[in-house]
Amino acid sequence: MDIARTPSNPDGNIEMADAAGEPHSPPEIRREDYRPFPWLVPETRLEFELGLESTRVRSKLTVARNAKADHSPTIRLNGDGIEATSVMVDGEPAQAFTMDGSDLILTLPGEAHEIAIETEIDPSANSQLMGLFASNGMLCTQCESEGFRRITFFPDRPDVLSVFTVRLSGAKAQFPILMCNGNRVDEGEDGDDHWAEWHDPWPKPSYLFALVAGDLLARTDSFTTMNGREVELNVWVREGDLDRTEHAMESLKRSMKWDEETFGREYDLDLFNIVAVSDFNMGAMENKGLNVFNTKYVLADPETATDGDFDAVEGVIGHEYFHNWSGNRITCRDWFQLSLKEGFTVLRDQLFSQDMHSEPVKRIEDVRVLRGVQFPEDSGPLAHPIRPDSYREISNFYTSTVYNKGAEVIRMMRTMAGEEAFRKGTDTYFDRHDGEAATCEDFITSIEDGAGLDLKQFRLWYSQAGTPKVTADLSHDNGEAVLRLGQQVPSTPGQPNKKPMPIPLKIALFDRETGKNSGEQLLILDSDTAEHRFAGFDKKPVLSINRGFSAPVTIQRDIDRDELLFLAAKDDDPFARYEAMQDLITGHLVASASGDLGDDERVSARADIATALSAVIADGSLEDLMRGELLLMPSQSYIGEQLELADPGRIHAERESLKAAIGTSLHDELVQLHSRVSDVPFSMDAQAKGARKVKTVALTYLAAASPELAETMAAAQYDAADNMTDRQGALMVLTGLEGVERTNKLLDFYNRYEGNALVIDKWFALQASSLHPNVVEHVKALADHPDFTLRNPNRVRSLYMAFAANPHGFHIETGEGYRMIGDLILELDPINSQTAARFVPPLGRWRRIEAGRAAMMRDQLDRIAAFDKLSRDTYEQVSRSIG
Ligand code: ARG
Ligand code: ZN
Repeated sequence: MDIARTPSNPDGNIEMADAAGEPHSPPEIRREDYRPFPWLVPETRLEFELGLESTRVRSKLTVARNAKADHSPTIRLNGDGIEATSVMVDGEPAQAFTMDGSDLILTLPGEAHEIAIETEIDPSANSQLMGLFASNGMLCTQCESEGFRRITFFPDRPDVLSVFTVRLSGAKAQFPILMCNGNRVDEGEDGDDHWAEWHDPWPKPSYLFALVAGDLLARTDSFTTMNGREVELNVWVREGDLDRTEHAMESLKRSMKWDEETFGREYDLDLFNIVAVSDFNMGAMENKGLNVFNTKYVLADPETATDGDFDAVEGVIGHEYFHNWSGNRITCRDWFQLSLKEGFTVLRDQLFSQDMHSEPVKRIEDVRVLRGVQFPEDSGPLAHPIRPDSYREISNFYTSTVYNKGAEVIRMMRTMAGEEAFRKGTDTYFDRHDGEAATCEDFITSIEDGAGLDLKQFRLWYSQAGTPKVTADLSHDNGEAVLRLGQQVPSTPGQPNKKPMPIPLKIALFDRETGKNSGEQLLILDSDTAEHRFAGFDKKPVLSINRGFSAPVTIQRDIDRDELLFLAAKDDDPFARYEAMQDLITGHLVASASGDLGDDERVSARADIATALSAVIADGSLEDLMRGELLLMPSQSYIGEQLELADPGRIHAERESLKAAIGTSLHDELVQLHSRVSDVPFSMDAQAKGARKVKTVALTYLAAASPELAETMAAAQYDAADNMTDRQGALMVLTGLEGVERTNKLLDFYNRYEGNALVIDKWFALQASSLHPNVVEHVKALADHPDFTLRNPNRVRSLYMAFAANPHGFHIETGEGYRMIGDLILELDPINSQTAARFVPPLGRWRRIEAGRAAMMRDQLDRIAAFDKLSRDTYEQVSRSIG
């Protein structure tokens, strides 16, 4: 951890105010302190002499005064854990340079200079996986956000754009493939070594730099753009993985076409490379012309990847490709603007997936992620606006709030403008800011001007954290339906008082007899309370609200179970139908978990839920993909979110017992459903995917009610499986049961896929997320398994993220689950702090958990905080969580 960094700041870079004043507290960076960089870096030349243990980097920067910034006699070149072996200015050894923490400060007297620096780094020792690192004998980079400074000294900030020319050289045998951003312009041999020179014509910030060197093979294809440019496409993988790259390549071509048709965006180089890497902190990275991917989001075939994996590959390929415009051609002025590229690009990838598949099903999946991850974040100690005001470690702000809520905020603009006007807004944005490092404010203004919206008050969505609570109350008065709406934005850390925000709510009013509604309307709730009157109702209609999830809010509506049952069966908006189903179940579980439910009420509520689910099973007009969504229980974390203080043990017990009750009362229907869909032959079309989805959902209810029958059915499903979706679904059910088939099939699965890292990750994750009573012991044993390692983030996540997300294991009464995550954080922090810090939020939820468990969670945070060598990442997350 870089605790020695001093707040002095000669360049007027973002000011480092050590606000907390604690001795080992890393400085806080504030958005309002942004200053333009005093220097431009029009050109950068890099030379890499590549070696796994030792790589020499020579950089040459041409720098010139930035007329649009305040004058400075010095230039700050960021560094992190590197040393310069030589520093030259205009061809002479630099006389005046000093170190400020790990940054190098040079005094530059003139208007323009050339700076040449040499560094030497050891990629094999880079376990943080930021900067240049080794993975399976190859070399690759990850520079976003601040990894480039681990390679060489540079103004490592997104508003400094430079044209990069890079020469790579290394041993032919070890690194037969040498790649960088842009186009290869020259190459040659030199004994056992070879070299390649790459040039990227597009000015870019250092975080978009990438290089890859290794023994790789490509699936090659091409795409002709709308203006007839022929683009060579490659997906690079290790030998043996090539036959799992077809889906990635097809997804890439579909993304390129879609972005032309939907946003008018054309690709701008002759070459587009994707490289799959097995050691990677995140999903993927949009480096210009050279996207680097976690293997998890590239490799897929039906034998080893589930339908969900296929969709994720397509979504992430799209996401990174779309960044070429929303991120690369227009980048971010500073990291506070991260949602400018991430929120917008998530929206773009969501719309892409919606267009490729079922729109409502994709919408439901996206809302489930938002509610399962972002809502808890927004109501906890780490809540922050989509455009944060301060940070200590920017890696901690690659959050569901910045990404997913960021996407929802832009989606609301689209809803208010309409698709066509929204497109005019995005055209304006791309036209106006191409080639720039822009701000969220630039984006909002472009949408206002292009789409003709007034977003004055709407800007609050960028500055206020917290999920708004909307109340909706419908009554009937003199032939009119009267809708009273209210909103309240909860206080969040540092933001005690909130202002009302514009909330676009799509609503419809249903006549119960006819089952018809009077047409969908869009209401904008922009004050604390509002009243809307609708004429022409001789009795009270049924309210359908926030249709399509038009706003990322929670709705408290005064609605009877009867009305929910009606909507669950009849609403013509598929999302609203799903929502009614979820509300029906959530309402019951919240009441039963808070203990205020009599036996009779429990019986009648369960009967209603079973009736609704039975209607969903029987509804011939539904596609199975949608049926699967309607049959899913709300997650435990979503139910916990509804309670001020959650008792995870109690919620878990109630939820499982409801599953068992449903499995009992719908036993025959579920068995029949399972048998019907088991006859659908494998294919990747929506119908077959739907069949696979309901197949496993049916099993989960049966497993809660009739474990022995479910064990037999799941084992049979496992044996009959000709694809990973069915196989993993069956094994998921079996891992929660205590029968002998659990052991048999786990062993079979391991032996079948031994050596296939992504599938072995599933094997770990299934056991860590299981409902088995001994899940804690299982996880402990798995941590000692020879295939387990803390050095591979996918493996760490497959065991411990799955466990931390498993309420039945993580929240075990003994506190053992909390201790295991506490131990993990301390052990992982020095190895990979970015990944370690991601395990803090589950413990940080302590304020919303019943007292006994809360104290034990808090103990773990205190124990971690007491450790004096924490990374900046973990320090920040732990101190905010204790707060
Ligand atoms: N820009 C990448 C993406 O969204 C993710 C980079 C994550 N960086 C980080 N420091 N966590 O596709
Ligand atoms: Zn992204």
